[in-house]
Amino acid sequence: MRLDRRGLIKTAGSLAIFTGLTSRPVFGRSLAGYPFTLGVASGDPHPDGFVLWTRLAPDPLERGSGMPMQAVPVQWQVAEDERFTRIVHSGEEVARPELGHSVHAEVGGLRPARRYWYRFLAGGEASPVGTVRSAPASGAAVDRLRIGVAGCQNYEAGYFTAYRHLSEEPDLDAVFHYGDYIYEHVAGRVCPKGEGGERTCFRSHVGDEIYSLDDYRRRYAQYKMDPDLQAAHATAAFLSTWDDHEVDNNWVDTWDEQGTPPEMFLLRRYAAMQAWYENMPVRGAQFPAHGGLRMHRRLDNGRLLRIHLLDTRQHRTDQRCGLQNTTHCRPAEDTAPSQMLGAEQEAWLKEGMSADFGWNLLAQQVMMMPFLYPESRADGRHNFDSWSGYSDARARVLEAIGERGLTNVIVATGDVHKHHAGVVPMNEEDLDGPAAATEYVATSISSGGDGSDVPKGWESVLSDNPHTRLLNDRRGYQVFTIGKDEWRTDVVGVDRVTTPGGAKTKIATLVTVPQKPGVHPA
Ligand SMILES: [Fe+2]
Repeated sequence: MRLDRRGLIKTAGSLAIFTGLTSRPVFGRSLAGYPFTLGVASGDPHPDGFVLWTRLAPDPLERGSGMPMQAVPVQWQVAEDERFTRIVHSGEEVARPELGHSVHAEVGGLRPARRYWYRFLAGGEASPVGTVRSAPASGAAVDRLRIGVAGCQNYEAGYFTAYRHLSEEPDLDAVFHYGDYIYEHVAGRVCPKGEGGERTCFRSHVGDEIYSLDDYRRRYAQYKMDPDLQAAHATAAFLSTWDDHEVDNNWVDTWDEQGTPPEMFLLRRYAAMQAWYENMPVRGAQFPAHGGLRMHRRLDNGRLLRIHLLDTRQHRTDQRCGLQNTTHCRPAEDTAPSQMLGAEQEAWLKEGMSADFGWNLLAQQVMMMPFLYPESRADGRHNFDSWSGYSDARARVLEAIGERGLTNVIVATGDVHKHHAGVVPMNEEDLDGPAAATEYVATSISSGGDGSDVPKGWESVLSDNPHTRLLNDRRGYQVFTIGKDEWRTDVVGVDRVTTPGGAKTKIATLVTVPQKPGVHPA
């Protein structure tokens, strides 16, 4: 959004920091403190630019994050070098109280496939410097892309050490975030269980369960103060999505898991979506509205990769009955077609999956492949919050992949706090049969606590799931190194998150080729 000087002066009133706005904003007068405590971020690269994000918060956990309830001008600069000797673009945005003093600068006019550095200036202060790459030109041949995959970062379950290691990965083009960026619960409720079953929190949420816009803003502020998370954002563009905990555990459409009347849950959902927009480096196309927020979108990277960022929460039908703690559900006798993406997004996805790209990446949240868990071996029941609770919706997407003859579809997933890799079988009854796509499921940054390589009781899970090739319960992330002839997935773990400084371990490197879905050792 452009700076409207007249509007700004009107809203600024007599506040001293706005004197002189008729010529240039006066940046010399300080705010209540250093305003860039939540770091900087970039997102959604296009060939000509990206969105740059910050949020002014001199006192992040206080009401209004310590900002005056006034609009405040913020400058941004984009340079070709880290020391800003070659500034190639700059501009001005207004951080408004209506949006929690967040800034989303959509920068265009840049060159494709180039690394840039950026920073913000406000209140006489300069922000930390971030770096970001523009996307390759449309139709360009691209040798290689590197995309990190991360999510599920329960602040209370451990330190964000995995983000520190991710921020040190060389040559990242972007980081796909599969959601659970914040967790909504009251301090102490969801913490890792020790040997004796007792729960231990390693850090504590501020405040009770979050409902209001101010609550959500403060929760984001607490998470964003984390230096490891800030380091990851400063390293590469994030491709941000949400899963359930950005709003409430296991919500779908207009329902939370307690069965709160939809008109009331929708008020909470709207506050949560607004806070998500305010705190994510996303473009104006993702601006929240009363009816919802269009989160699904597409990002092309030359001819090599088309990324379909999906929303598997907002448009689905209710979960099948049988999911733990979910009181509002879809009974077995309801045989109407189910929706995971909703009709509009599903049609959009089917139309957009294309053989014109080396790879199609379905960047989404919940597991698409069927999966038998230790506790479900006896009854063969699947996780009803995943695509397996929506078999007919899954079958429609897989059918579309088959009809187009696509063999280059990769699904990136989070949610279950474990590393998995496998294929999505065309027929859910025939796990060993022909496959429609390859799925890489990334573990969590912190949710679940330290973990172990193979959790107790999970020894037979790989053989129960013959379509999968990987199981690991360490915290961590994945990195996709994408070339024309090979998709390489580095599976990374950290040895502990319950104390700072955990060491990085390479768990596996797996490979997929574009001619046929499958997971192979490198
Ligand atoms: Fe999670």
